[in-house]
Amino acid sequence: MTMISEALGRIKSSATVGISQKAREMRSAGRDVVALSAGEPDFDTPEHIKRAAVAAIEAGHTKYTNIEGIDELREAIAAKFARDNHLTVEAKNCFVASGGKHIIFNALMATLNPGDEVVVPVPYWVSYPDIVQLAGAKPVFAVADARSGFKLTPDLLEGVISKATKWVILNSPSNPTGAAYSAEELEALGEVLLRHPQVHILSDDIYEKLIYDGHRFVTLAEVVPGLASRTLTLNGVSKSHAMTGWRLGYCAAPAHILMPMKKLQSQSTTHASSISQWAAVEALNGDQGFLEEWRAVFQGRRDMVAGALNAMDGIDCLTPEGAFYVFPSIAGLLGKTSAGGRRVTSDEDFVMALLEESGVALVHGSAFGLAGYFRLSYAASNAQLEEALNRIGDFCAGLS
Ligand SMILES: Cc1ncc(COP(=O)(O)O)c(C=O)c1O
Repeated sequence: MTMISEALGRIKSSATVGISQKAREMRSAGRDVVALSAGEPDFDTPEHIKRAAVAAIEAGHTKYTNIEGIDELREAIAAKFARDNHLTVEAKNCFVASGGKHIIFNALMATLNPGDEVVVPVPYWVSYPDIVQLAGAKPVFAVADARSGFKLTPDLLEGVISKATKWVILNSPSNPTGAAYSAEELEALGEVLLRHPQVHILSDDIYEKLIYDGHRFVTLAEVVPGLASRTLTLNGVSKSHAMTGWRLGYCAAPAHILMPMKKLQSQSTTHASSISQWAAVEALNGDQGFLEEWRAVFQGRRDMVAGALNAMDGIDCLTPEGAFYVFPSIAGLLGKTSAGGRRVTSDEDFVMALLEESGVALVHGSAFGLAGYFRLSYAASNAQLEEALNRIGDFCAGLS
């Protein structure tokens, strides 16, 4: 017998976490597996940030803090939004939680009611629809496939907004596609959103620092200031500063959104770890020089991966503007049989057969709401990527 609440019965566990877990189990059983399924930079947290955390422990910053985060961090966040995003926000409108995911969880759980709708562009980051459903509301999907570069268009957006729409989620650069909106594209979406004053926007900017080919990162509240009073701008140090394990995310939002979030957090985690908060102060105020170096490394990997995949028969890969993912189509491979005798009729069959026969872990596109694709995370060493690409090439060549 399982003991599970009705609310939890509405959702599933994270598919990306599940596949990474299976890859780890295969490794413990002695199999040689290259896992390109996780969304985590392979770099270590920079030394000066680690030292700030040690100093925080030694200075006794080991007690409860404010629910919304220490003043020093909220000042650093306001300064970051001014410096990087040209947003004028006060520290009192900045809020800290245990990871970017926790900010999203707080915002949606604290504001949604049954009957409310949340627009989720497809393909989506796996957690959005499940958190919406956990909150008792309804995700409404807007499918943006390769034809629009995996981006919402004004018509697509207008078509899914209803009187019940409470939030629209935007994620740029995107997990799982790497697509990033330009200022003009955001302005066009902004025009639609300005016509629907009941809608709030959650702008998930967690991959802000990973943007390539000279594209400039832009966020909605910067490009369309008229929407700032109903926009939550989400960010965090997980991806930008290689701090996934520190669990530190933050946002800027108007008081009417932050107040319920604070109430919810006061009855759950209370606040993010005091030590991680002090480390994040250094991450945001300290040297940012390494970001450009990391960005260049990721861009080189993106080019290598997209080039190699496009050279494979049956795979079609757009070159994304940002993040550390590619999301190629495998439409040309479905219906074939693998060298190991497995029928590959879906993207899920493809990633499972590839994992079992060739030891490469990817995530099927349908986990992100779009069948016929897979997501490959290139947040891995060049040697691992080359090995994985060779194996994928051999596996595909073996399909008949
Ligand atoms: C689009 C997107 N938003 C938010 C997050 C959450 O990041 P964090 O590790 O800070 O909770 C992730 C992590 O994978 C993500 O891909």
